[in-house]
This record gives sequence, C-alpha cells and structure tokens, in this order.
Amino acid sequence: MLIVTVCVGSSCCVRGSDELATKLQQCIEREHLEGRVDIVGAFCMDGCSQGISVRVGDRQFSGIRPEDGESFFYREIIGNLDRDSLVRAPNREIVL
Ligand code: FES
Repeated sequence: MLIVTVCVGSSCCVRGSDELATKLQQCIEREHLEGRVDIVGAFCMDGCSQGISVRVGDRQFSGIRPEDGESFFYREIIGNLDRDSLVRAPNREIVL
C-alpha cells in the first residue's frame, strides 16, 4: 500500500488541498488502484511557505497546485507503485 499524505493544515487548505486530494482520489479510482494507494490527511507538514505539501511514501513535495493533481499523480504516484501491484491491478492492461 502506498500512502499519499496531503496536508490539510490551514495554509494548504486555503491553497486548495481539498481539491487536490479529490483529484488524486479520482485518479486512483480511474486507474482502479483502490487498496493499493490511499490518500490520508495530515496537519501542517512544515512547508507552508512553498504551497501545498504532499508526501508520497517517504518522499515529500511542496508547492503542488490543485490543477497539477493529475500530472503529479502520474509522475510521482503511479511511478512509485511496485511492479507487482501494477501487474495484479484489476481491469488494467500493462505491458512490462
Ligand atoms: S499548513 Fe500545509 S505545510 Fe503547513
């Protein structure tokens, strides 16, 4: 299970962290990755001055905008799922 933590502290909330989390969740559902990727919230992740903070596993990012949610998902989340979980994902064809 890959845990994606989206900051829901006040500064990130004002910048649209709820919208970003919704977009990431929509991507998870579109790719049928429920049970393999989970979105959770956390309070201030010490990156307030740089924009919305997101942690993917043990990697932290700052300055993620809601409108970049989909590209962030495909670049930083799908790319970090282990090979086995992609192969076993239902309704998904991947040529490896
Ligand atoms: S409120 Fe999100 S990093 Fe501080």
